[in-house]
Amino acid sequence: MTHMTLRTFMKFWIGLCVAMLAAPAAFCQWDDGPGEVPYVPTPMEVVEEMLKLAKVKPGDFVIDLGCGDGRIVVMAAEKFGARGMGYDINPERIKDSNENAQKAKVTDKVKFVEKNLFDADISQATVVTLYLLPDVNMRLRPKLLKELKPGARIVSHSFDMGDWKPDKKVDVNGRTLYLWIVPKDGQIRTN
Ligand SMILES: C[S@@+](CC[C@H](N)C(=O)[O-])C[C@H]1O[C@@H](n2cnc3c(N)ncnc32)[C@H](O)[C@@H]1O
Repeated sequence: MTHMTLRTFMKFWIGLCVAMLAAPAAFCQWDDGPGEVPYVPTPMEVVEEMLKLAKVKPGDFVIDLGCGDGRIVVMAAEKFGARGMGYDINPERIKDSNENAQKAKVTDKVKFVEKNLFDADISQATVVTLYLLPDVNMRLRPKLLKELKPGARIVSHSFDMGDWKPDKKVDVNGRTLYLWIVPKDGQIRTN
């Protein structure tokens, strides 16, 4: 191989490597939003199973922490007769949630607030729903135990709570749902 062809050959491979490294960054960008968990909505059939797992009924107050487009709280009101609230840090998601509540005609039963979920008052909740990330779930544990009353149910889509032993664990369309019920002594059993 002459000096020139070797240089061309090297340039070609270096160019190819740079393109391969750059391509995922160009094609895989998504809007992470302002929070620490990207917006990925729970499929509707899974939302329904989350609410069934928590045995949501009229009289319940469902709070979704990181509520996205409000689908969990809206379905809890529309289909299960509950009331509820959703908190999201992204104002766009709160706008979507309010629109969805209007479409479902449940604005008298639900409320959506733009707020960091760690600052949300959840003491009113009889059911808390989560579709967050493992480390966020872990950081939420003290808040859940401090603010929720005995009998409150916590349902998490996809992610567990570290060594908290779930009262129930089900698979729905390849997704795992976890249920914990706050016991009388306020201490959730660990594995
Ligand atoms: C995976 S999505 C889940 C949306 C909805 N709960 C569902 O299951 O369809 C997570 C949501 O949490 C919101 N979020 C992320 N960090 C947050 C924070 N610190 N406080 C409040 N919301 C947050 C995001 O904006 C996003 O809408």
